[in-house]
Amino acid sequence: NNYAVIMAGGVGSRFWPMSVEENPKQFLDVLGIGKTLIQLTYERLCNVVPEDHIFIVTNEQYVELVKTQIPNIKNTQILTEPERKNTAPCITYAAAKIYAINQDANLVVAPSDHLILKENKFIRIINTALNRASKEDRILTLGIKPTRPDTGYGYIQFHQDGDLLPGQISKVKQFTEKPNREMAEIFLKSGDYYWNSGIFIWKAHTILKALQKFKPDLHELFCDQFEVYNTPAEYDYVNDAFRKCESISIDFAIMENAKNVDVVLADFDWSDLGTWGSLFDNLDKDVNGNSIKGAKTHVFNSNNCLINLPDNREAIVQGLNNHIVVESENRLLILDKKAEQNLKKYLKSIQEN
Ligand code: GDD
Ligand code: MG
Repeated sequence: NNYAVIMAGGVGSRFWPMSVEENPKQFLDVLGIGKTLIQLTYERLCNVVPEDHIFIVTNEQYVELVKTQIPNIKNTQILTEPERKNTAPCITYAAAKIYAINQDANLVVAPSDHLILKENKFIRIINTALNRASKEDRILTLGIKPTRPDTGYGYIQFHQDGDLLPGQISKVKQFTEKPNREMAEIFLKSGDYYWNSGIFIWKAHTILKALQKFKPDLHELFCDQFEVYNTPAEYDYVNDAFRKCESISIDFAIMENAKNVDVVLADFDWSDLGTWGSLFDNLDKDVNGNSIKGAKTHVFNSNNCLINLPDNREAIVQGLNNHIVVESENRLLILDKKAEQNLKKYLKSIQEN
């Protein structure tokens, strides 16, 4: 009864210029290991559920990319969206479709663009969560011990006094999606908050019930005609639902509101590779702390830089510290690492001009 849903429709704009709308982060080999992030995600989930129980939800625009990168996947396992409406509609669609296949289905819902090391631990934690979700009407998320007051994450206040052990489950007191800096600092200091990894585990039935309660309009659009799922009428029905529904993340729609939320403390190595800096933290560095790619890139007197230039670009970099230098397809980024969260803003401002 176990199924996986990979959410692969985001744009990854904080990874510009490597990640662009036509070819976003999840379809790139950002680690330089010969596999893209979605390929790694798929392989990881193959260790948790049967291969034909994995569904990928993505924008119509990326269907060909998905098929090329994951040749094993069948057309029926790719769920398409005509418009980007964030993660709540994506999850509603997948849950409704899988529920129509199997009313006892348990789902692992995962982002497509994260880095996870220590896969054995990942498998163990997921199985713990699946076990709980299959028996009780609970919404589970995997928590990560926070290391900095990052404002790009959801924060989960757990119930227990003191830390959980890895694999231990606690009820959740409060879920706060993307707090401001001040709040994030308070959460970090208090010691009873984990980051939301963005990996969720629940029964299809449980999440549909929560959607019905907290987002009845969204639920109605995708669920008033279960009989269309897995028939030729599904495509038009779902497209219509996507066009009409609001754009909202599952974190704001459900996680902040539901009362039956549990967190499992995860102890695998996790990075959401949300920014260039988080990738840099996960790359091998030379004696000067630089990570350099590019056959003709020559670096002098520079420290702690990520430099990634095409092999045919001859370049000298001198005297640069704590910067990101990336060139891709005639687009060049030179960015102070401290300002990496602003990249989204800079991009928006150039697109408006
Ligand atoms: N199919 C589909 N459609 N997928 C989407 C869409 C969409 O419209 N929007 C985003 N996704 C995919 C992204 O590709 C990514 O894999 C995943 O859903 C999460 O979306 P993000 O946009 O990356 O979310 P986030 O990083 O800002 O926040 C989420 O993840 C954090 C951990 O990385 C939240 O769940 C936070 O609470 C969490 O801490
Ligand atoms: Mg993300």
